[in-house]
Amino acid sequence: MPNLVAMNDLDNKTIMHLLERAGEYQRGERAPVAGTVVNLFFEPSTRTKMSFEMAEHKMGLTVLQFDTAFSSVLKGETLYDTVKTLEAIGVSGVVIRHEEEEYYKELENCKLSVINGGDGSGQHPTQSLLDLFTIYQEFGKIEGLHITIVGDIAHSRVAKSNAAALKMLGAHVSFVCPEVWSGDYETSENIDDYIEYTDVVMLLRVQHERHAVSALFSKADYHKQFGLTEERERKMKPSAIIMHPAPINRGVEIADSLVECERSRIFKQMANGVFVRMAVLEYALKGRE
Ligand code: NCD
Repeated sequence: MPNLVAMNDLDNKTIMHLLERAGEYQRGERAPVAGTVVNLFFEPSTRTKMSFEMAEHKMGLTVLQFDTAFSSVLKGETLYDTVKTLEAIGVSGVVIRHEEEEYYKELENCKLSVINGGDGSGQHPTQSLLDLFTIYQEFGKIEGLHITIVGDIAHSRVAKSNAAALKMLGAHVSFVCPEVWSGDYETSENIDDYIEYTDVVMLLRVQHERHAVSALFSKADYHKQFGLTEERERKMKPSAIIMHPAPINRGVEIADSLVECERSRIFKQMANGVFVRMAVLEYALKGRE
C-alpha cells in the first residue's frame, strides 16, 4: 500500500517527483484522483490539519469529519480498530497525527493508505517535503546547499525528517542546539559559527510538551544564545533564507521583527504545504478509487 510514514521510505527520485507534482498543482493542475479521506489528529495542529483539509478540498476528495474527542477512542478503542472501521466503511486514506512514535507500525495490515501527519518525536514527512519544496523553489537545487538546523533537535520530528532527506539529496546539514538536545546528532552550541555562510537557517520550536528541560533556559537566555536575533540576521548572506515549521515562539527562536522580514519564508512554507500535500495525497490514493 502506498503509505507515506517516514522520509527514509522515499528514494531521491520519488522525492523529486513529489516536488514536481507540487509545482504542477501550484500552477493550477487538476487532481486525477478521487476517494474518501479522514484526518485523525490526536495531537493539536493548526497548519498541518488545515493544510491537509485545504488540499483535500482542492482535489475534490470527500472528507469525512472525525473528532477524536467525540469518538469511541474515548471508550478505549484502539487506533488499529478505529482505522479498520474506517477501512470497512470505504475510506481510502487516512492522515494521522499521534503522540506515539511509530504508531503506524500497528497499522501495517490495513489496506487503506496511511499518511503520517507527525508521530511524537519521530517523523513528519509532509513538513519535510514542503520544506524541500520551499528550498528547491528558492535555489533551484538542494545539492551543495548549506542548511543549519537550530533548536530542539532531539525532540523534533521536523529535524529528523529533514536531516535524513536533506543529506540524501546532497545538502550539507549542521545542527545547533544546547547539548542536552543533541539526541543522536553531532551538534554545536555556537550558532555564530554558521550564520555567515549558511544558505538556510531552519529554526525549530522548543518542544515543551515532550520534555521538562526547557525549564533550564529562560526565554531571554535561549534567544540570546540560540535565537535568530536582528544582529545575526544582518550577518546572513544576501541570498540566505529563514525557515521555521511553526508554531513560532516570537522572541525566543526568532526576533519578533524577523518573522515576516524579507528573507523569511515562514508563511511561504505554509502556502507551499497545501500543494505538497496534494502531491502526497495523489501518491497515496492513486489506483485505489
Ligand atoms: C511542527 C510539528 O507539529 O511537528 N509543526 C507543524 O507541523 N507545522 C513543529 C512543532 O510543533 O514545533
